[in-house]
Amino acid sequence: MKNVTSPTPPRTREGHNHSPACPQHPLDDELARGCLPHRGNGAGKSGYWYRLVLPLLSGALFLIPIVATGGDSIFPTSRTDLNPKDQKRVESVTRATTDFSKPEQFELMAGGGATTKASVNGNIFSHFSANITFEEEQEFKLGNALFTKLWVSSPSSTQASDGLGPLFNARACQSCHLKDGRGHPPEGGADATSMFLRLARPARTDEERAVIADYRKLNFPDAVYGEQLQDLAVPGLQAEGRLQIAYQDLPVTLADGEVVTLRKPSYSVSDLGFGPMEGDVTLSPRVAPPMIGMGLIQAIHEADLLANADPDDTDGDGISGKAALVRDHKSGELKIGRFGFKAQNASIRDQSSSAFVGDIGISTPDDPFDHGDCRKAQSDCLAMPTGVQPRLGPVEAPDPVLPLVTFYSENLAVPARRDIGDAGVLKGKQLFYQAGCASCHKPKFVTRRDAGNKAHAFQLIWPYSDFLLHDMGEGLADGQQVGVANGQEWRTQPLWGIGLTQTVNGHTFFLHDGRARNLTEAVLWHGGEAQTARDAFASLSKEDRASLLTFLESL
Ligand code: HEC
Ligand code: HEC
Repeated sequence: MKNVTSPTPPRTREGHNHSPACPQHPLDDELARGCLPHRGNGAGKSGYWYRLVLPLLSGALFLIPIVATGGDSIFPTSRTDLNPKDQKRVESVTRATTDFSKPEQFELMAGGGATTKASVNGNIFSHFSANITFEEEQEFKLGNALFTKLWVSSPSSTQASDGLGPLFNARACQSCHLKDGRGHPPEGGADATSMFLRLARPARTDEERAVIADYRKLNFPDAVYGEQLQDLAVPGLQAEGRLQIAYQDLPVTLADGEVVTLRKPSYSVSDLGFGPMEGDVTLSPRVAPPMIGMGLIQAIHEADLLANADPDDTDGDGISGKAALVRDHKSGELKIGRFGFKAQNASIRDQSSSAFVGDIGISTPDDPFDHGDCRKAQSDCLAMPTGVQPRLGPVEAPDPVLPLVTFYSENLAVPARRDIGDAGVLKGKQLFYQAGCASCHKPKFVTRRDAGNKAHAFQLIWPYSDFLLHDMGEGLADGQQVGVANGQEWRTQPLWGIGLTQTVNGHTFFLHDGRARNLTEAVLWHGGEAQTARDAFASLSKEDRASLLTFLESL
């Protein structure tokens, strides 16, 4: 055992002394964010973080060379939660199947004991984990109310609901995660609410590169527009700009002669409200993903995620896959990122807190930025009132708002599979394995026994993802670095529930920016490490392609 203490990071990039009332945040630069002295108190977390002690659990060299800890791994290389007997059971049930003549045992229950067997209709993504207690059900309902709550601008007579913005993308979580499902690009009159652009520039100096190498930041925001483009603002303030998409047709001929026309998007911003953006800032479009099964993903053991990682492709199968490494917002601890399209958040709480601040402009105890994503250069924005009510707490969303919304997000149930015994589905499943899809879309895991929430513990789950980052080629690239993810890398999207997209959201737009209009287009956009699998799909007969799609529809 040996301990490594991470150096205390500089408090601000410029080395200023900031107002003691300004919050400190491990992943952000409060001065660049234009933090104003905080009227509330208690939100300042001076010195609360950064005695980062990394437990070096084993001397194995097997793990992620990207962790520069002198060859020592900071994560366990085998399951720390299981006795040898359970370990054997887990290995046996998670082994890839070779029998496609019938469904596998427990395959129906994609989310293990948490799976919902409710009847399939537009609300099928909105049920709670089937195995939570009655008390937890009440908590879920309170969380649901907050997830759908429309925040209003300050000052307002409904003080517990104000604090929106001043810049924002939407007024509620639910506005983007429509029916707890996915958003869509602006389309045929539909607005751009459930989609936005992340803004970031790479490190410019050695000092900034060191900050990234130590995972203290994932990239740097635009000096004026911050971390994302907010296309809405409270009355009296101009919005930051408007997302513009232009599509270009891209015909692709499949092996059997069928032509599929993909649409290649290009993104720009019009009506910039605060002057030009910095020249090296990239735009990364993101559509809100579905919300199901999140707590189960959080309960996958690190060792199981790392077992699939092969960053140097030592097995030579053309598929590498690396774990995202990010810091927990509150503790600063180094963790494996799992959430977001670049796996930039390690926990649902961190992802939810970022959403409050960045998407809605609501401060939380973990991210106490009352002016949301406003920056120093946006003085009009910083001059707007905020929604902090000292009577209610030091931030706009004081406890228990964030814990309740987090609990809700953790417990949206994965629906049971459909038609798993149908000949077409089984045939499609076999083709899915044969084409190499399962190399990244890992069918199954058994969650950790010591999961924080009992409902998520020791469940056999079928997310069809390895939650690792893969180079997906130039076609899907956004050119934006996010921590260890480069501009061509994306986290494998879980596929559970994908066949219910039409039922829940009334559309079939897929991929991180909704460019694919159906499953076939989604697969044909795969490149880079997935090129071989994509080519295998493109060379199938029409009938076999249909079977593979039938399988995806049954997920
Ligand atoms: C403006 C639209 C928008 C709003 C509002 C929004 N989200 Fe999201 N959400 C997204 C997008 C886009 C992503 C993908 C993020 C990324 O990759 O950067 C996401 C991702 C997530 C994820 C991770 C999903 C995954 O598969 O990894 C969670 C959890 C989440 N949001 C929760 C929330 C909560 C809780 C709220 C309300 C506090 C919220 N979101 C509000 C658009 C939104
Ligand atoms: C090298 C890893 C890899 C392989 C192999 C791979 N995928 Fe993917 N898949 C991904 C990643 C990463 C994404 C997310 C890409 C994005 O959003 O831009 C994705 C996204 C998808 C989506 C869209 C999911 C959504 O929610 O929008 C579908 C459908 C899909 N893959 C199916 C397949 C099929 C079918 C195969 C085999 C023919 C396959 N994939 C092979 C990594 C892979």
